[in-house]
Amino acid sequence: MKVAVFYSTRTGNTRRLAQGIADELSAYAPALIDLTQLQGPLPAADCYLVGYWADRGRADEHAQHFLKQLTGQKVGLFGTLGAYPYGPHARHIMQAAEDCLSDSCLLMGHFLCQGPVDPDLLRRMAADKPVAPQAKTRHTIAATHPNQTDIQYAASLFKERLQHQ
Ligand SMILES: Cc1cc2nc3c(=O)[nH]c(=O)nc-3n(C[C@H](O)[C@H](O)[C@H](O)COP(=O)(O)O)c2cc1C
Repeated sequence: MKVAVFYSTRTGNTRRLAQGIADELSAYAPALIDLTQLQGPLPAADCYLVGYWADRGRADEHAQHFLKQLTGQKVGLFGTLGAYPYGPHARHIMQAAEDCLSDSCLLMGHFLCQGPVDPDLLRRMAADKPVAPQAKTRHTIAATHPNQTDIQYAASLFKERLQHQ
């Protein structure tokens, strides 16, 4: 059983999560591939784990584009976002990412966790209007993810499915 881990990232959070998952799944000798650097044929693997970052309510464009090309593949999804990984916003993003997959693909798990939001974006938001205390708390918590617990949880989610293939 071989695994390939793909990721898209703007500020590095999703790369950190992808790297951690690849390290935890070392038994599957995973290739770790930046979707923006993808060239030539896709690596042969029994399962593709694909990481995205949340961009305006959806998976980012690179990840969406890649997911839409896959057919007949086992696919695990993971991603980072600024919002909490539960609640309607996160659920909407997860569903939108899953909707990119053709019916011929088999979903092997889906994991989301927070990641620090680009400080430039936070500054622009603060300049626009005062940041509510609850949003400040959310940003403070986001800045502590992805952490080791996130990595281990995501990896164990995928491991469990991979062990039963
Ligand atoms: C342009 C932009 C749009 C974003 N849109 C969302 C969003 O819709 N929902 C959300 O929860 N986080 C959003 N975020 C936060 C990022 O998804 C989050 O910081 C993520 O961890 C970034 O991952 P990366 O470091 O791999 O690029 C946005 C960030 C940026 C810069």
